Amino acid sequence: MQFLELEKSQFSAQKFFISYTEENEFSALLKDIDQQSQGYFSSLKNKNTAFTTAKKNIFLEIPNLAANIAVVQLNSGNINSKIAEFAKACREIAREYQLEKIAVDIDFCSDLAAKKQVLRALVDSFYSFNSYRKEAKFDLNQIQIAISTTDSATKTAIKWAKTYAEAAKFCRDLSNTPANICTPTYLAAQAKTLEKLPAVTVEILDKAAIAAEKMGGLLAVSQGSEEEPRFIAVEYRPKNAKNSRPIVLVGKGVCFDAGGISLKPAAEMDLMKYDKCGATTVLSAIYAAAQAELPLHIVALIAATENLPSGTAIKPGDIISTKSGKTVEILNTDAEGRLILADAISYSEKYQPQYLIDIATLTGACVIALGSVRAGLFTNNEELGKLLINAGEEIHDRAWNMPTDSEYGEMMKSPFADLANISGKREAGAATAAAFLQEFLPEKTAWAHLDIAGVAWKSAGEEKGSTARPLALIFNFLSNLAD
Ligand code: BES
Ligand code: MN
Ligand code: ZN
Repeated sequence: MQFLELEKSQFSAQKFFISYTEENEFSALLKDIDQQSQGYFSSLKNKNTAFTTAKKNIFLEIPNLAANIAVVQLNSGNINSKIAEFAKACREIAREYQLEKIAVDIDFCSDLAAKKQVLRALVDSFYSFNSYRKEAKFDLNQIQIAISTTDSATKTAIKWAKTYAEAAKFCRDLSNTPANICTPTYLAAQAKTLEKLPAVTVEILDKAAIAAEKMGGLLAVSQGSEEEPRFIAVEYRPKNAKNSRPIVLVGKGVCFDAGGISLKPAAEMDLMKYDKCGATTVLSAIYAAAQAELPLHIVALIAATENLPSGTAIKPGDIISTKSGKTVEILNTDAEGRLILADAISYSEKYQPQYLIDIATLTGACVIALGSVRAGLFTNNEELGKLLINAGEEIHDRAWNMPTDSEYGEMMKSPFADLANISGKREAGAATAAAFLQEFLPEKTAWAHLDIAGVAWKSAGEEKGSTARPLALIFNFLSNLAD
């Protein structure tokens, strides 16, 4: 997707211009155009035609105007639902008329946050995954969006959204790529491509190097698979970085989670190709930060593996050693994410992170608790929690603060090892998983964990696929820190 900046006067010459009414009032641009067409729209409104009741109205071949015009009615409630309605209408119109370019009127978004949000909504609603089909479908990724830029907030929002659009496409294409193609090795190769960006370096640890690092959690999970694990470290270190210690993002990169010996049920198991979405989020966050040349030192760490059942797979009852030295009794091989994240979290120690943020499709329990509306946020640092939650609110990629009381940690004890990998009870599954991770933090680290199991993809319907969440939240958080 491309964004073009237009002068106000250019709007009436656009082939397809999408404007709006709000509480029956024309937008300023529509008023302008109404005058240019000698009151075409106001006369329709006065005649009280369907124009005032339909959700969206399309006018083709208007006398005295070059433009075809669509008018979306934005009457319902708050700015969030207006933005959602507007983006949806734009997508439907572009599809229906096979448009390559639309001009949009986003003046109903008055502040910078709303402007960024509406552009993000357009980017997200125009995505389609076309890499693996023969039939050339109308490719919504190719569309150009023209916007009037009369103020600096709009210019700033467009700049942000251009970067978001590229990074989100990278994130979604990679997330949607199935596990027969996107193996840990492939994921590492994709990470390596980020070296084309300024100040980015990528280091890949193969199985031998992972063993040398004593990452026993990652090795244990991968031992049931023919595919080798990879550990990926991406560093973005611009010369003008403001932070003396880096922000470290850790991503869960399970390219396919069959559950291992504690095998998952067959229904919807295809969706477990999305168990790498923590990894795709942190990669695309570095992509966005480097592309935007944010003055921040940022590191992304990814533990990449598959979780499959086989004769060499880990078994319930096995006791493994993690990089930290702590041993873990595996009671359920499907609680694999926390084992690989534990090692990645330990590895982060060498960077002495200012903030350590792990992002993982960690628990079904988080989906039960929060659905697909909000990601679960667990933190040991109130300030970091607020920064993340506010960044999410601003861009409408929302998270909710979840508890980290020590009692959840108590539930992760084992009679045979330092820790068990499940609590043995179904209750509080998202919180006990977070408590497990917390056991591995380097000392005095400001940490947050985002459980994105409910938000990273849509499971069914026309929009089935990666949502690129919480990339918008993270990119907005980083952008705010950079200011
Ligand atoms: N990747 C899953 C979590 C998941 C499940 C995400 C469903 C999205 C939808 C994770 O590895 C897992 O299997 N977690 C188990 C943990 C349990 C065994 C304690 C779960 O949530 O069932
Ligand atoms: Mn699992
Ligand atoms: Zn998993």
